[in-house]
Amino acid sequence: MKTVKIGLLGLGTVGGGALNIIQHTLPEIERRLGQSIEVAIIAVRDLTRTRSVDTQNIPLTDNATEVVNHPDVDIVVELMGGTGLAKSLLETAIQNGKHIVTANKALIAEHGNALFALAKKHNVIISYEAAVAGGIPVIKAMREGLAANKVEWVAGIINGTGNYILTEMKKPGADFAAVLKVAQELGYAEADPTFDVEGIDAAHKLTILASIAFGIELQFNKVYTEGISQITADDIRFAEQLDYEIKHLGVASRLENGFSLRVHPTMVPKSVLIANVSGVMNAVMAFGNHVGPTMYYGPGAGAGPTASSVVADIVEVIRWKEQPIDVQVPALGFALDQLQSAPVVSIDEIETSYYLRCFAKDHVGVLAKITAILADSNISIEHLHQEPCSQEANAATLVIITNHVKESLLNTAIETLSELDDIEGDIMRIRIESLGA
Ligand code: NAP
Ligand code: HSE
Repeated sequence: MKTVKIGLLGLGTVGGGALNIIQHTLPEIERRLGQSIEVAIIAVRDLTRTRSVDTQNIPLTDNATEVVNHPDVDIVVELMGGTGLAKSLLETAIQNGKHIVTANKALIAEHGNALFALAKKHNVIISYEAAVAGGIPVIKAMREGLAANKVEWVAGIINGTGNYILTEMKKPGADFAAVLKVAQELGYAEADPTFDVEGIDAAHKLTILASIAFGIELQFNKVYTEGISQITADDIRFAEQLDYEIKHLGVASRLENGFSLRVHPTMVPKSVLIANVSGVMNAVMAFGNHVGPTMYYGPGAGAGPTASSVVADIVEVIRWKEQPIDVQVPALGFALDQLQSAPVVSIDEIETSYYLRCFAKDHVGVLAKITAILADSNISIEHLHQEPCSQEANAATLVIITNHVKESLLNTAIETLSELDDIEGDIMRIRIESLGA
């Protein structure tokens, strides 16, 4: 049986997971491939670190360039992360004619346009299923399974850490920092967990999903991004009372004048399937003009699920690597020279309904002032709830659900409301999406 040699860059959560799968599932993989796989060399940062996987008989190096220049290595599997060293290593590997498997969404979202062009020039494959939604084969499903469709929109819970935090925060007394720490211990979080919490990781993934959905170039710097750190336990409780769940969604949609690319906390009616996706699970909805709504669900982070996608990519690359790149599925599902650099519209242009929460002094006439400001902006109120705070505070929490309104109009109304002496502190605003419900 022929053996294909792998060079691993990184042996952390995902790298360790991938080595573990190769070591424990090799006979089944060999049956699928009719070929064998061998890990020929692994690069790590710290050679003295104790590893939870068996690295006996595999040379380890702390010089990552050895891996990409290794004469025996056919496929470089990049699982170290980052966009600096990882990028230059992969460029060298590609120039050396090595195929690439990576889970690095930051690298693909920020430098994918150039890397895919370089790979095409050198007739090598870049496979990156694990970069989006961990263990869910959503790249393959959208790139190939939806090829008959013009995709109208994509919306997803695409960060496992964020969804885990929002789910745990529903438990009484849950503490944001403590829940995040558990997510890190479980191997879900990025090296810098602010990427998870502030939506950067989800924006990387949404960039990739949007390109695959619409056949547009990767445009990470155009994604509007808001994190979940401002969401309070009160918001989660009010959402629950109103029959919504708060989810950190990535949304990409076709508009008349371009595309909307955004990541932000979103209130989704509980009746929508995706609202019930909890913990580390991810789900991506894609709406095709022929198929209608579709949804892909599964674990979005962690060693086993992510490495499952990595090893599936290795299998895919081995099956296709002898074929010229031109006969293969293009990296983003559309012929590289057919990708459009479409305009991405400002978040001010979107139109949806909103949840607003603020503290208002408990004075006669306050409600009238607030509703008058909203009415002046032609914003009608679908729901208004008032909850008294403690007597000493002499204030009440107001929760308002608006009708559909353009974001720029809502922002102007929020600015005017904030100027009222009766409003204390910031006004919380969460977008509501019904996702076809
Ligand atoms: P990790 O646990 O921090 O592992 C990173 C690995 O890279 C470590 O083994 C580290 O070596 C090695 N490394 C770092 N810098 C290096 C250098 N300069 N030279 C050689 N080796 C170096 O990270 P991870 O969670 O596995 O994530 C890896 C990649 O997968 C990232 O791109 C991440 O975004 C992506 N990803 C992660 C998940 C997840 O659930 N964790 C899911 C999907 C995608 P040491 O072990 O010696 O420190
Ligand atoms: N940190 C990422 C997450 C890993 O929590 O979703 C999976 O990409």
